[in-house]
Amino acid sequence: MSFVVAVVGATGAVGREMLRTLEQRAFPVSRVVALSSKRSAGTKLPFAGGEVVVEELVAGSFAGVDLALFSAGASVSREYGPIAAKAGALVVDNSSAWRMDPDCPLVVPEVNLAHAARRPKGIIANPNCSTIQMVVALKPLHDAARLKHVVVSTYQATSGKGHAAVEDLLAQTRANLEGKGVEPSVFPGQIAFNVICDWKAGEGDTSEEEWKMVYETRKILGDDSIAVSPTTVRVPVVTGHAEAIHAQFHRPMTADEAKTLLRGAEGVELFDAPYAPGNHPQPVQAAGQDAVMVGRVRNDPGVPGALNLFVVADNLRKGAALNAVQIAERVLVK
Ligand SMILES: NC(=O)c1ccc[n+]([C@@H]2O[C@H](COP(=O)([O-])OP(=O)(O)OC[C@H]3O[C@@H](n4cnc5c(N)ncnc54)[C@H](OP(=O)(O)O)[C@@H]3O)[C@@H](O)[C@H]2O)c1
Repeated sequence: MSFVVAVVGATGAVGREMLRTLEQRAFPVSRVVALSSKRSAGTKLPFAGGEVVVEELVAGSFAGVDLALFSAGASVSREYGPIAAKAGALVVDNSSAWRMDPDCPLVVPEVNLAHAARRPKGIIANPNCSTIQMVVALKPLHDAARLKHVVVSTYQATSGKGHAAVEDLLAQTRANLEGKGVEPSVFPGQIAFNVICDWKAGEGDTSEEEWKMVYETRKILGDDSIAVSPTTVRVPVVTGHAEAIHAQFHRPMTADEAKTLLRGAEGVELFDAPYAPGNHPQPVQAAGQDAVMVGRVRNDPGVPGALNLFVVADNLRKGAALNAVQIAERVLVK
C-alpha cells in the first residue's frame, strides 16, 4: 500500500527535510503534494530523483491526501489542520498549535507511541525539537528510577528558527569578518560570534520556549509531578541542538547504571568513552544523523544520586521531520 502525502511548508527548513526523510526512509509514497504560501508556488523541489512543483496551500489542497505533514507555523496548522483531517488525512503537525490540546496526542515514538492511538481530532502533534531529544534520552532513566527534577540548559541551532534565520547567521558572520556593521534581519540582535535568548516572551520571565519544555515533557512522560527548570539559549550553530541536563530521580541513580540503560536504548547513541577535550557529542556530528547522541553521562558531584548528561541531536531531523515521519510509519504503515 502506498500513500498520498502532503507536505505543508515544503519550502521551509523542516519541509525540505521532510521530503529528504520520506525519500531516505523509502516511505511508501504514491504522490507528494508540496504546499507553501503563494510566495513560493511554482518552486521546484527535488524528490525521489525527480522534482515536485510546489502549490499554494488552499482549503481544497487535501482532497485524496492520506497523510498531511504540517510545518508552516502555528496559525497555518490551526486553520488547515482540521480541514486536512476532515478530508480524511492523518495530520502530523510540527507547530505548537495542537501540542497541549487534550484531544491531540503529543508523540515521540520511542517514548509514548501508545498515546497516538487516541486522536479524536485526527491530529497528532510533534513536540518541540528541544523536548524531543531530551525525552528520548531521559525515558530509559525515568522508567527505571522516575524523574523528580530536570534542570536543562539548551544550546540551540539557528535552523530551529527556520531557513531565513540560517541566512541571517551567515550574513552576519560574513559582515563581521569583513569588519562591517552587523544588521540582523531575523534575530533581535547579533547572533554571529554571540549567544542570545531570542524566544517569544512567556508567562512571567520564563520564555515561551522554556514553558514548552516544561509542559510538553510532562505530557509526553504522563507525569505532571516532574519539575522541569529550563534555560533556552540560541548559539551560532547552523544545525544541531545541544543540551546540558541535570536529572534527579525518586531513587539514587549512578552513571554506570544510566549508561547500562542507555546502551542500546531505542533512538539513542551512547558516547561511552571517558571524557577528554573534544570527545563528546557535537552538533557537527549530529547534523544529518537520526540518533539522539548522549554523552558525558556522569554522577553529579554536588547532588548524590543525581546525574549530568550532554545530549545532542539534529533539530531538523529527530527534532522535527524524522520524528513526524516515524509517527506516520508506526501509525499508517506499521
Ligand atoms: N526548524 C526547526 O528545527 C523546527 C523544529 C520543530 C518544529 N518546527 C516548526 O515547524 C514550522 C516551520 O518551521 P521552519 O523552521 O521550517 O520554518 P521556515 O523555514 O521559515 O519555513 C516556513 C514554511 O512555511 C510556509 N508558510 C509560511 N506561511 C504560510 C502560509 N500562510 N501558508 C502556507 N505556507 C506558509 C513557508 O512557505 P513560503 O516559502 O511560501 O514562505 C515555508 O515553506 C514552525 O511551526 C516551527 O515552529 C521547526
